[in-house]
Amino acid sequence: MHTWKRVRSKHSLEYCDSCRRYFFNGRELEVILLIVQISDLHYAPTSDADAGLERAYGLISALEPDLIVAAGDLTHDGLTEQFDQVYRFLERLGISRVRAIPGNRDFPAGNSTVDRPLDSDLEYFLGAPDTAFTDHELPGLAADRTPFTDFFADLDFFDRFPDATVVGLNSEPQIPDDAFKRGTDFFRGSSPAVPRVFCTHRSLLPVPRKRVKEGDLLKNAASILAELLNLNVRLAMCAHVHRGHAWRLSNDEGEIVVVNSPSLIDSSGTKETGFLAIQMEPDGDVAVDLHTLNQAERRRLLQRSKTARRL
Ligand SMILES: [Fe+2]
Repeated sequence: MHTWKRVRSKHSLEYCDSCRRYFFNGRELEVILLIVQISDLHYAPTSDADAGLERAYGLISALEPDLIVAAGDLTHDGLTEQFDQVYRFLERLGISRVRAIPGNRDFPAGNSTVDRPLDSDLEYFLGAPDTAFTDHELPGLAADRTPFTDFFADLDFFDRFPDATVVGLNSEPQIPDDAFKRGTDFFRGSSPAVPRVFCTHRSLLPVPRKRVKEGDLLKNAASILAELLNLNVRLAMCAHVHRGHAWRLSNDEGEIVVVNSPSLIDSSGTKETGFLAIQMEPDGDVAVDLHTLNQAERRRLLQRSKTARRL
């Protein structure tokens, strides 16, 4: 018994809520891997944040994703007690299917809201009119210190699943060359028949309705994308700019889908909150849905390219 929900499309693409399958002109489209991407929780214990996590838990667990990628900025200030609550949330979702990388907020030295050492003269320097102030230069805190590794095995992850080879790299404040090489070597050592997926926190492409600020994009984003295309990586996930968007990018080497996820629960300003649900077929073809938390609606950001070719 199907419970039909029309997918926003001029084509005959429909989704059955009961059996979690997509149909095109009545014919089932096989979905073998469902990835949920969450990011930029900026979690700090408030009633709004806890209510947001509860709503997110209900929506995500109903989808029964195969893999949940937490793409950084899990916490507001990088504090252990904030990580503790986020980790409990991920545990409820099933920690064995979660892979995570940190974002800039998860390194306490990079945040301006965390308490500083009492002997800091930071206030004086911040008040000086010509003081240049950048991330990771605050006194009394190591730039590379984060409680993230008290909860997760490493700042990066490298995994081979039957349906995807997945690499996530810490991008704070950038992706080190040796870490990127380790990631590309991992892809090269994996079966070319298994779709390849890449993840990092800082954005790889600008998104509409968001003016690009210093630090939004990785400085070597174009080189990273070119290398990922060269390696036939099918999906690149990034975050940081708090906007849901999907690009399909191609060159003579191949095609890659690049997605930016919105903040999961931080609705400050007029931002839309939610997460991405990414369906990947065995041949690496990708479709992307944005699930909003505020309106609890599903909005398709990107159709499968095969669907378009069938028309
Ligand atoms: Fe960020």
